[in-house]
Amino acid sequence: VRLLSVASEMFPFVKTGGLGDVTGSLPRALAPYGVEVTTLLPGYPAVMAALRGRKPVGAWTDILGHAATLWSGRAQGLDLLVLDAPTLFDRPGNPYLCPDGQDWPDNGIRFAVLSRMAADIAQGRIAAYHPDLVQAHDWQAGLTAAYLHHDRRAQAAPGAGVPVVQTIHNLAFQGRFPAACLAEFGLPPEAFSVEGCECYGALSFLKAGLYHADRITTVSPSYAHEIQTPEGGMGLDGLLRQRGERLEGILNGINTDIWNPASDPAVHFPYVAGDTVGRAPNKRDLQAEFGLVADPDAFVIGIVSRLTAQKGIDLLNTVMPRLLVANTQVIVVGEGDREIERGLAALQRQFPRRFACHLGYSEELGHRVPSAADAFLIPSRFEPCGLTQLGALRYGAVPIASRVGGLADTIIDANPAALARGGGTGFLFSPVDGETLVAAVNRARLLYRRQRAIWRQLQLNGAGYDVSWNAKAAHYVALFAELLGMDLSAPQ
Ligand code: ADP
Ligand code: GLC
Repeated sequence: VRLLSVASEMFPFVKTGGLGDVTGSLPRALAPYGVEVTTLLPGYPAVMAALRGRKPVGAWTDILGHAATLWSGRAQGLDLLVLDAPTLFDRPGNPYLCPDGQDWPDNGIRFAVLSRMAADIAQGRIAAYHPDLVQAHDWQAGLTAAYLHHDRRAQAAPGAGVPVVQTIHNLAFQGRFPAACLAEFGLPPEAFSVEGCECYGALSFLKAGLYHADRITTVSPSYAHEIQTPEGGMGLDGLLRQRGERLEGILNGINTDIWNPASDPAVHFPYVAGDTVGRAPNKRDLQAEFGLVADPDAFVIGIVSRLTAQKGIDLLNTVMPRLLVANTQVIVVGEGDREIERGLAALQRQFPRRFACHLGYSEELGHRVPSAADAFLIPSRFEPCGLTQLGALRYGAVPIASRVGGLADTIIDANPAALARGGGTGFLFSPVDGETLVAAVNRARLLYRRQRAIWRQLQLNGAGYDVSWNAKAAHYVALFAELLGMDLSAPQ
């Protein structure tokens, strides 16, 4: 089975968050089932540079007003189709933002062209590649299903085409553009309808995908539920409830070959997952690097996160003095909102030797912090899945997280009942505010200080929890098999 995955980012070529991790690691997990994934990616400079053995498989002088070449090739063992449209994608740096941090003003047409290309490929217009189904990731690929729908109508061929699965990684980003863009994006006037691409007066890429896709997935069962409620639906809960029977949550996994503390080059003192003693030198090492008091008894809390309201990091600025008590240290690695960054920098001046932050993106620190910290804090206001808690569990940093979305689905709260059965992998709190956050950290610190054996048990339980793609890939395969009406083989 050939699956065309349509995405705006993919690790290790270009990544701004978990979406890139998922599109970069899911293909390998699906391969054993005979699901061959080819990913359609924009031809950003980093992608063009990584592409090996490329062959042109199509050329356009005018695709929605832009010239483009489609290259087929491989990079790092991944099959790619690269949309090389220099007027749209030949820009270095962040795939969505200009150097001043604003969205590129032409993001609409950039990702309309990506989706348009996906629809052309799905309709068999590229001789070299015919997919059996399409997985469209997030709003950037959202118009794919809409183009397929309108093309079928225009050709008076309403029959079923290649099925499209629209995957929601984050409902907060919907890709909304003025209605006036409809023609530029190559959509017919009738597309601008509640039964289509229209959403509260604007043209919405994600809404279009959610409306027209054959199936909708999101990245955890709890998030699948939350987005069908007015509180979590970000204006789309009505549609999502209506399509509820075609919507399901499938958890993300992580690549456990990369996320292996015994072989991870970022981990200075390698240890086998679950070895709570073997990881200890990493804590000392990280304390030294961040200029924190070199105390093995300090309770070290790590954070690796985009610095946005979604992640609840703004709460830290207010509660930090209350966290940095009883020999607690906090390390933040993150980048994002300038105001949050300024707040963290101020905290570092206020609490030297106890609080430290690295404001920037560092894949290396993203691995080292969970290998070294005692606990890992994730106070997200909403979290579709979250990947950092998975790395933390595997690396022995006990997660302290809000009870939302994928965090609630992947962390077992160490409440008395769980502890009585030797269970528990972390600490969950709700609702998300400063008080509950402080209380959860206090609860964790108390256990760490007074019941170290139980704390070790939590670390062990976490390391034993299956954070890999294995079971989740099987779930996707079951969905694909159902959509295609065929049996897909189990892995050998
Ligand atoms: P989101 O996609 O919402 O940002 P996820 O938890 O799904 O959240 O994925 C975030 C990914 O990005 C993880 O792989 C995490 O380690 C990484 N990450 C986020 N911020 C940074 C940073 N400043 N430096 C390094 N890695 C980061
Ligand atoms: C989004 C979500 C995050 C999820 C990631 C990958 O960025 O914010 O929770 O893990 O996508 O699916």
